Amino acid sequence: PRVAVVFGGRNSEHQISVLTAGAVLGAIDRDKYEVLPIGITADGRWALAADDPARMAIEGRSLPSVEQLAESDTGGVLLPVSPASREVVHTEPGQVPKTLGEVDVVFPVLHGPYGEDGTLQGMLDLAGVPYVGAGVLASAVGMDKEYMKRIFTSFGLPVGPYVTVRPREWERDPAGARKKIVDFAAEQGWPVFVKPARAGSSMGITKVGGLGELDEAVEVARRHDPKIIVESLLRGREIECGVLEFEDGPRASVPAEIPPVSAHDFYDFEAKYIDSASGIVPAPLTEAQTARVRELAVAAFEAASCEGLVRADFFLCEDGEFVINEINTMPGFTPISMYPRMWQETGVGYPELVDRLIQAALT
Ligand code: DAL
Ligand code: MG
Repeated sequence: PRVAVVFGGRNSEHQISVLTAGAVLGAIDRDKYEVLPIGITADGRWALAADDPARMAIEGRSLPSVEQLAESDTGGVLLPVSPASREVVHTEPGQVPKTLGEVDVVFPVLHGPYGEDGTLQGMLDLAGVPYVGAGVLASAVGMDKEYMKRIFTSFGLPVGPYVTVRPREWERDPAGARKKIVDFAAEQGWPVFVKPARAGSSMGITKVGGLGELDEAVEVARRHDPKIIVESLLRGREIECGVLEFEDGPRASVPAEIPPVSAHDFYDFEAKYIDSASGIVPAPLTEAQTARVRELAVAAFEAASCEGLVRADFFLCEDGEFVINEINTMPGFTPISMYPRMWQETGVGYPELVDRLIQAALT
């Protein structure tokens, strides 16, 4: 089969996606699959990219981008819009579109808006091309921290306290919108986390200690998304769990624990990627706690109607109860990322993980 690996993208997680794609390209069984690497630049142009995992890694403190890998730097690669043909067509301005042949399946190795949020998934559905991972609805739910919590709540999953402020609330009544956050913080206690509702990799998130820091935090978050969510600080341990779909249904991996990062205020972007703060796999939990978090992870997968894979992130609160913080329908996926590490520990190695996901999409 021919696999189009699509990566990069028009969002702030662009570089993380390139890292992830480098690992996936390096692990795909080339005897079994033919690979077409397609990069989306940060401004949304599609380009045929170099099939060169070595250039898709962290160098020092700098992360790779599609711009450095594009072999056709001005083009757009358009996936087919007719279910009759799965041809990938490459267009360069002013030139006749050129076909790159048919693809059997797309592996959207994309994080964040315009990739992990259902938009790309909708385009592929229109074209009738199968793809790895969550469909339109689950992707959209997994990208929006408000709707995610609403769905979880309606399925009886425990979520933490939060308040959202939508774009229209800022427009109509900025003072009222601000007061909503201040009242929430007064009730829950500072600090609170101010987050863009639809972003990832901790982009645009600020831990706000008091009123004086609020306005700037809101501005930072709104640079990523005009809709923001404010959450209270949950005291406890950060636990993650991977879910992978097998022939007989979704199964949970062993969980992992993200220990507090001393040099960082919270598990932020730098801690995640630059300083590669690493989790403990398996998480040192009791048998009952492990069973509980695995059960909740599969329940979250089902609640959001996920397909293929998901990483569910939890807090184990001081009262002993788990609270689900969020899910990621295309989690960070390099061999040192938490999702593959949890599966490695569960007995599914990285190349097998990649193969399973592609096979699941093809069948
Ligand atoms: N959004 C990042 C890639 C993650 O959840 O791993
Ligand atoms: Mg996330």
